Amino acid sequence: MTMLEVNELSKQYQRGGNVFNAVDRVSLSIEAGAFVSIIGRSGSGKSTLLNMLTGLLKPTSGSIFFDGVDLGKLPDDDLSRLRNDRIGYVPQGVSALSNFTVLDNVRLPFFLHKREGDASGRAVFLLDEVGLLHLAGMYPAQLSGGELRRVFIARALMNAPDILIADEPTADLDPASSDEILQLFSRINHNGTTVLIVTHALDALGFGDRVLKMDAGKLAVAQKMAINRIPNYNQ
Ligand SMILES: Nc1ncnc2c1ncn2[C@@H]1O[C@H](COP(=O)(O)OP(=O)(O)OP(=O)(O)O)[C@@H](O)[C@H]1O
Ligand SMILES: [Mg+2]
Repeated sequence: MTMLEVNELSKQYQRGGNVFNAVDRVSLSIEAGAFVSIIGRSGSGKSTLLNMLTGLLKPTSGSIFFDGVDLGKLPDDDLSRLRNDRIGYVPQGVSALSNFTVLDNVRLPFFLHKREGDASGRAVFLLDEVGLLHLAGMYPAQLSGGELRRVFIARALMNAPDILIADEPTADLDPASSDEILQLFSRINHNGTTVLIVTHALDALGFGDRVLKMDAGKLAVAQKMAINRIPNYNQ
């Protein structure tokens, strides 16, 4: 089963009177259960691509099929429901709801589309998974950057999404915390969730089964030589 099918996807911005291709005719297919990493220099279009894949940003041209559904043809309500229920997204610059506790921040997606039941059990489980259960009752301002990032990962997993998409989830984490996050992604992936991450951390590459490189808006398979130098954490 194909989870994501992207055809000739482009995003153009106007820059000083010129058209600038932030994402340039990207085609990509991700099978359900895959773990894909995207690397690339700053400004190469990685976040722009992820924002389109998660339905937050409208492409200039091209199409995105999520599990066979054309996102571009979906009414706004259906798109936001699909995003909330089936896509877990950890954007690059995320912000927490500052007057909600950590636990409530994690539970939030559960309540976005009226649901029955108590989400606390799952939120507690996820906070434990990311190693933050002891901070459940704290407020975001009381957390470090790395701790907050883990809260966002737990939040993205709240509705048990089909795919977890994360934009530099280990940025500004120390190596040990970064490794814990990657181990977590690996476990989530082994449990059946498709994972797509953008990363600068070369360590992360050992976890994925496919590494792609973004360069000036274009996506290509990363050089094998570069990948071979990366330790394989799965061994
Ligand atoms: N709203 C916008 N309007 C104009 N240009 C934009 C806009 N958003 C992004 N860009 C430009 O598009 C290019 C790609 O940006 P993007 O954020 O996707 O890069 P990135 O690969 O995620 O970089 P980084 O590694 O620094 O996060 C950049 O040159 C950026 O300046
Ligand atoms: Mg980015």
